[in-house]
Amino acid sequence: MTAADIDGLENIQTDIVTLTRFILTEQGRYATQATGDFTLLLNSLQFAFKFIAHNIRRATLVNLIGLAGASNATGDDQKKLDVIGDEIFINAMKASGKVKVLVSEEQEEIIVFEGDGKYCVVCDPIDGSSNLDAGVSVGTIFGVYKLQPGSTGTVEDVLRPGKEMVAAGYTMYGASANLVLTTGNGVNGFTLDTALGEFILTHPNMKIPKSRSIYSVNEGNMCYWDAPTREYFESLKFPKEGGKPYSARYIGSMVADMHRTILYGGIFSYPADSKSKNGKLRLLYECFPMAMLIEQAGGLATTGTERILDMVPSKIHDRSGIFLGSELEVQKVLDIYKKHEGK
Ligand code: AHG
Ligand code: MN
Ligand code: MN
Repeated sequence: MTAADIDGLENIQTDIVTLTRFILTEQGRYATQATGDFTLLLNSLQFAFKFIAHNIRRATLVNLIGLAGASNATGDDQKKLDVIGDEIFINAMKASGKVKVLVSEEQEEIIVFEGDGKYCVVCDPIDGSSNLDAGVSVGTIFGVYKLQPGSTGTVEDVLRPGKEMVAAGYTMYGASANLVLTTGNGVNGFTLDTALGEFILTHPNMKIPKSRSIYSVNEGNMCYWDAPTREYFESLKFPKEGGKPYSARYIGSMVADMHRTILYGGIFSYPADSKSKNGKLRLLYECFPMAMLIEQAGGLATTGTERILDMVPSKIHDRSGIFLGSELEVQKVLDIYKKHEGK
């Protein structure tokens, strides 16, 4: 007899796919090259996510909310949880023994670990930290490169195009902790079961809907946008005769806005400033991982004129403008930019 034969137990799952099981199965498919190193790296990553999630859950109770009293490498005020999240992440990556180079939003320079780690990890330990004190979802974003052959670990190992990343993902800390991961073979979503302490595969093979009438952007910045960007957003709000305007949804945590976009479809954008040509979001550890995920889920990610994953950062904290989301929504942005070319 099995559980399924017992009245009332038909829906009890006894064979669940944990993140570790999922990665071991994935590795089995590349048995000749797989060394188990990536599994161990992922183990340390998931430990960091659980530890950060735990701190966020108890933040209000143990006085972890509010400012730390300093600013980070890119000039943002640091929250206490930015500092704690960064430390948790660095310690977990160091302890894994598999990471040679680490880039964190909160650290001015790269960190090079001792040992013969073969991976480079880039991360935004807490994304959306301005939302922390209000209990709104925040997240951790990460991307993984392989160390270049023969390298002892330098900044050149991470100043590479996003398309060379071997894995990327984010964990959103909200009602539960949701990990969304790609290793270059589609996108899979996992939910933390706090009782088991395991991430469980709950969203296999995620695909972003081809189109959806939702846009997500901080419209307060409209005065800084270039003409194609303005034209694009105007076209969503003032549709042609008989059309319906789009809905606006903007949380202000990239991870949370991205999570909704991947699940429901639509477009998320943080456009560049038309004068400086710079965006707010950091190329290496915000734009690249999200662009890799969105492409793997069947969507597009662009600056309007360039595919995000083709870009090459010249410094680790470089910023870029970005549009990402459903294929048909982002295509409209590309069409408008094309039309403006040579105007
Ligand atoms: P971080 O908290 O890591 O500095 O990132 C904040 C980012 C991103 O999460 C979000 O999309 C964007 O900043 C929101 O910026 P605005 O407040 O300017 O809209
Ligand atoms: Mn961020
Ligand atoms: Mn951050």
